[in-house]
Amino acid sequence: MRKLCLCLFSLLLTISLFPLLLKAKDDDFVRQPPRRVIFTHHDRSDSDPQQVHISLVGKDHMKVSWVTDSKHCSSLVEYGKESGKYNAKANGEHTSYKYFFYTSGKIHHVTIGPLEPSTTYFYRCGGSGPEFSFKTPPSTLPLDFVVVGDLGQTEWTNSTLDHIQSIDYDVLILPGDLSYADTHQPLWDSFGRIVEPYASRRPWMVTEGNHEVEIFPIIYPTGFKAYNARWPMPYQESGSTSNLYYSFEVAGTHVIMLGSYVEFDADSDQYKWLQADLAKIDRKKTPWVVALLHAPWYNTNTAHQGEGETMRLAMEELLYNAQVDLVFQGHVHAYERFTRVYNNKADPCGPIYITIGDGGNREGLALSFEDPASPLSLYREPSFGHGRLKMVNETHAFWGWHRNNDSNFVVKDQVWLQSLSSSKTCSKSVDQKITSPSTKDEL
Ligand SMILES: *[C@@H]1O[C@H](CO)[C@@H](O)[C@H](O)[C@H]1NC(C)=O
Ligand SMILES: *[C@@H]1O[C@H](CO)[C@@H](O)[C@H](O)[C@H]1NC(C)=O
Ligand SMILES: *[C@@H]1O[C@H](CO)[C@@H](O)[C@H](O)[C@H]1NC(C)=O
Ligand SMILES: [Fe+2]
Repeated sequence: MRKLCLCLFSLLLTISLFPLLLKAKDDDFVRQPPRRVIFTHHDRSDSDPQQVHISLVGKDHMKVSWVTDSKHCSSLVEYGKESGKYNAKANGEHTSYKYFFYTSGKIHHVTIGPLEPSTTYFYRCGGSGPEFSFKTPPSTLPLDFVVVGDLGQTEWTNSTLDHIQSIDYDVLILPGDLSYADTHQPLWDSFGRIVEPYASRRPWMVTEGNHEVEIFPIIYPTGFKAYNARWPMPYQESGSTSNLYYSFEVAGTHVIMLGSYVEFDADSDQYKWLQADLAKIDRKKTPWVVALLHAPWYNTNTAHQGEGETMRLAMEELLYNAQVDLVFQGHVHAYERFTRVYNNKADPCGPIYITIGDGGNREGLALSFEDPASPLSLYREPSFGHGRLKMVNETHAFWGWHRNNDSNFVVKDQVWLQSLSSSKTCSKSVDQKITSPSTKDEL
């Protein structure tokens, strides 16, 4: 009996690994298993800043966020264009939160500016401790985004971050699932420390995934305690009343951060906010419109099938009518790129959907895709990696997916994109619906 089981097991294993082995033969790539969680320890003094990260606020301001163990540190940022010479300063606010027996450190948020574009600033938090620096994004195109989802804090995360830093960029955007703390709050601190060398240098703009929710019935019924306290995004600036959805503009690009885990149906606040936000877009100022959300609307992986479907049914038409160029999705731990789609059909005026939930979290990869592949899905691969979106000018952008190949990375999928606002096939009028897709130009 036992022998039979073993035999069946190895047969099943062979069958399930077969497509992978085939794939590996393609390009000699050996798909690697998940790696262990790195817990980053705190090695500065109680009053020193830790977990420093920055985010864009409005046209020319930056929010600096950090944590101190000591309650006596001030929420002060000193900054300037020369190392060690701080000729400007700003005070901000602080918060802290409790989650069962855990009490967070003092969490500081200070908005500084106005700042000049494409400029390096040196800064210090709380009047002492190490100096940090960041570069502000340019005010006009070109602009370089890094896109990474479902990041976590494993050895894979570490190598993804290393690859991200190895080529310069302007702004990092993340479609949800940051720390994978999953209610174990010290892991939020450890995540803050692992990302600090990267997130203190370039703005990180994030939206929430299911791992940010952390609801506990009756005690913490609304959730997002840690996420909202630690990663406040500039939602008021875009007229949103919730940190869970907002938009921002940077160098010719309007970026919409949607919330997959907050109400989205037609009478919800998020829906009304999205309608108003889309109506405000000026394509002359921001020829590109990009949206991010966590649970995919389009997905041919067998993991998380249908989880984004209710939201797609509620909101897809809004994004389509507004001619959103690209939608980045997370949640599925793999990479997948679709053609331009609307309502499950190829449509030259619909957004391109890209799943990029492969930053390196502890749960590992989503290895199995539906077979046969939908013709809408143009490239799919279950590997860790990150994406780069270069907005070259108002008509062209270049997308590349970088697969982690251990200590180095390999660019596996690349494509030129044309902005819908410059497409001859798609009307430039925002409220006019396009019903007859004609010839397909560039993606
Ligand atoms: C994380 O990456 C850095 C830079 O590549 C490396 O020096 C360090 O040893 C890595 N840490 C762990 C725990 O893997
Ligand atoms: C935009 O960039 C593309 C690709 O580099 C180039 O072919 C095109 O001429 C550029 N357009 C303008 C208006 O500069
Ligand atoms: C991937 O990594 C392996 C081992 O480090 C190396 O031998 C191989 O050349 C790399 N492949 C590419 C395409 O860089
Ligand atoms: Fe997720």
